[in-house]
Amino acid sequence: MKTDTPQTVYLKDYTPPAYLIDHVELDFDIRADGTTVTSTLAMRRNPVATPATLVLDGEELHTLSVAVDGKPATYTETPTSLSLNDLPAAFTLQTVVRIQPDHNTRLSGLYRSTDGYFTQCEAQGFRRITWFIDRPDVMSRYTVTLHADQATYPVLLANGNPVAAGAEADGRHWATWEDPFKKPAYLFAVVAGKLDVLRDSFRTASGREVQLAIYVEPDKLDQCPHAMDALKKSMKWDEERFGLECDLDHYMIVAVGDFNMGAMENKGLNIFNTKYVLARSDVATDVDFENIDRVVAHEYFHNWTGNRVTCRDWFQLSLKEGLTVFRDQEFGADLHNRQTARIREVRGLRAAQFPEDAGPMAHPIRPASFVEINNFYTATVYEKGAEVIRMIQTLIGRDGFRAGMDEYFRRHDGQAVTCEDFVAAMAAASGFDFAQFMRWYNQPGTPHVAASGSFDAAAGRYTLRFTQSNPRASDAAPYLIPVRVALFDGEGHLLAGSEQTLQLTATEQEFHIDNLAAEPVPSLLRDFSAPVYLDFAYTPEQLTLLLAHESDPFNAWEAGQRLASTLILDAARAIAAGQSPQWPDSFAAAARRLLQTQAQRGAAFVAEALTLPGEGTLAEMMEVVDPDALHAARNALRRHLAEELEGEFSGLYAALAISEAYAPTAAQAGRRALRNVCLGYLMELDTDAARRLALQQFEKADNMTDQFAALASLANVNAELCPQREQALAAFYATWQDEALVVDKWLAVQSTSRRPDTLATVKALTAHPAFDAGNPNKIYALIRNFGANLVRFNAADGSGYAFMADRILDLHDRNPQVASRLARCFDRWKKFDDTRQDHARAALQRIRNHPDLSRDVLEVVTRSLG
Ligand code: PHE
Ligand code: ZN
Repeated sequence: MKTDTPQTVYLKDYTPPAYLIDHVELDFDIRADGTTVTSTLAMRRNPVATPATLVLDGEELHTLSVAVDGKPATYTETPTSLSLNDLPAAFTLQTVVRIQPDHNTRLSGLYRSTDGYFTQCEAQGFRRITWFIDRPDVMSRYTVTLHADQATYPVLLANGNPVAAGAEADGRHWATWEDPFKKPAYLFAVVAGKLDVLRDSFRTASGREVQLAIYVEPDKLDQCPHAMDALKKSMKWDEERFGLECDLDHYMIVAVGDFNMGAMENKGLNIFNTKYVLARSDVATDVDFENIDRVVAHEYFHNWTGNRVTCRDWFQLSLKEGLTVFRDQEFGADLHNRQTARIREVRGLRAAQFPEDAGPMAHPIRPASFVEINNFYTATVYEKGAEVIRMIQTLIGRDGFRAGMDEYFRRHDGQAVTCEDFVAAMAAASGFDFAQFMRWYNQPGTPHVAASGSFDAAAGRYTLRFTQSNPRASDAAPYLIPVRVALFDGEGHLLAGSEQTLQLTATEQEFHIDNLAAEPVPSLLRDFSAPVYLDFAYTPEQLTLLLAHESDPFNAWEAGQRLASTLILDAARAIAAGQSPQWPDSFAAAARRLLQTQAQRGAAFVAEALTLPGEGTLAEMMEVVDPDALHAARNALRRHLAEELEGEFSGLYAALAISEAYAPTAAQAGRRALRNVCLGYLMELDTDAARRLALQQFEKADNMTDQFAALASLANVNAELCPQREQALAAFYATWQDEALVVDKWLAVQSTSRRPDTLATVKALTAHPAFDAGNPNKIYALIRNFGANLVRFNAADGSGYAFMADRILDLHDRNPQVASRLARCFDRWKKFDDTRQDHARAALQRIRNHPDLSRDVLEVVTRSLG
């Protein structure tokens, strides 16, 4: 349902709210034919704002009554606002509204899911529950009472502490909760459902006892212990690393199967997508376990970075998200494997954020304007935001950063603040001047840094020259870019004392390193010290040397990625010109050395090093993307490695088998990852032996990691007849059809398949009982994953685009947020050839021309066509 003509909101227009709401009392009468919400607000004029009409936000509310200080009030109502004039300086406003959570398909506000009622209020869902000044700088204390049928909804939860409960007539019951902390409305939550609970407790450093509870759908308690452990580990970690203790008496997590996003940090009452709670070794992979650790930590960390100190307005979203992602990354690195964590972060950034920053939705980590804020929960705000925080730590050191965090909380605890406030605290604590650094908050685009080196043998002087540019914004001012460097000699020894962090501040800049006996090999941007593209004309010999010897694991990996990227892009050009690709012997030799040294370098690292850059990342490096040639080239290199190293892959596959019981530890996960990389390469040989090996692994696996890896490699097989493929897919569904999250994997493995008939398969699956067009996880698994399948989504005949447009139009009204995420699959359409562009433009225009298109989708599609 469309209400108004979409309007753009600007950061520069910020003004403080005209009224404040000190206390909120809410009463929910939950019934099958609708929920009645009675809201009693203790309000007063904001002393620092200019007096104005009181305008309350609302959406899909049926107003039953409005009273000021107990008397019926005169008001003006539109579909999205309720205005009152002639108000006293302080007053009580009571409204009664009726809402329809059973028909709330957007999953924003109060909505129905299988096991009860749940809420999602970030960013602007609270206005779908009651009339309110729905903005994060209005912070209030809440008292909440829920009434519902006792047998159907035995569990009644809200933020804070339970204060009273009881039975009432007609088999109903009630419960009242009080939250002692002031909070913005987006952190409000209630739950009424039939749920099982796992309880535990945590004693904080200062001796406070916090009651912990994880609520899940019935019969899933055996899938909760991992999340509970993750919660306790996060609590301890935040005390140790940042001196931050839990301030709550009750910390509750509720898992729900219908959820637009990953999870939500509501004060004391997190609501999670089941995907980030439920895990057991036979249904969750190593990656799932690690993601659960990080998401549980992320939401817990928000209790300080987001809740205790919140955002003044939604433009400041990265204030809480970039910082909290950085914190969960650091937690994950400490808990699992720091080397591969960093590699995966960068892989993810390049796959999602770099393309975003080069496309129609590019925005600074703090956007200057938006039409729909839900469209800005992006890789840029989250992941690039985390990189910006990481750069601050790189520039002022770990201790300086900790001092800055302490200062931030000393200044701003209990406030709603801006990104400037955060950086000012960092500056005050460290003495570092962040004036130029602030451009990272205000300019979009991925900077390109071109570096070159020259050696003056007579003077023993090596000169590094850097040029920075921003192709996205040619008028962009230069950034302050921290570039970590080290120099290596021709044997691969690190030159003592050569490790340093250079600060690029000008468009062109030079640095000298003296007293060198011979020309060194520079290793630049170690640990990925800034989110930039870095070009340096490395020779293959230099890269091979760095891959073998660089002591910074990220840059060792990076050297291998650079080698592989060049080979694949050259091969794609050859294939497009009708030639066959050429592979130098040196590449397979380098890969062989990696396999031989896996015991020393770690299986997890070698698994990452042997994983070629993804097609999406490589596509960004092509002038005009030829998805077929790119796909063929990348697979040809995989096959080349498989042919050259078959013996090594087979040997290691056997050697890496794990005999002890499954545990999602870093050590075991690394072994499994490398073993499954070996299986993946063996499958490139397209032999019956390899397929039988995969099927055997599929059938014998005692854990989802190995079972799923085998299934994924079989799902790619494109032979006329592959009985192993059909057998594994059928068996997997038969075994797991009642485990929703495993069914998502079954859908994903088919929609990401290389097979040319993938679109037909995906279309057929939309009619399969496993699919549910009302469930975001199912849509992401089947439809969005297909949109990320570069070669199949971008089919030359436009069939992938037409299919996606159909799905978006089918969904845009029912769930605009999820539909809008699907629309982002079109982001890179202008990088393809004219024929594909014509098809994509037609699909986008068809979406845009739809009458009453939701604001979310309209903004994305308009920017994409613009
Ligand atoms: N704030 C949530 C997080 O990052 C994400 C979220 C945003 C969830 C909007 C739901 C809606 O943890
Ligand atoms: Zn977050």
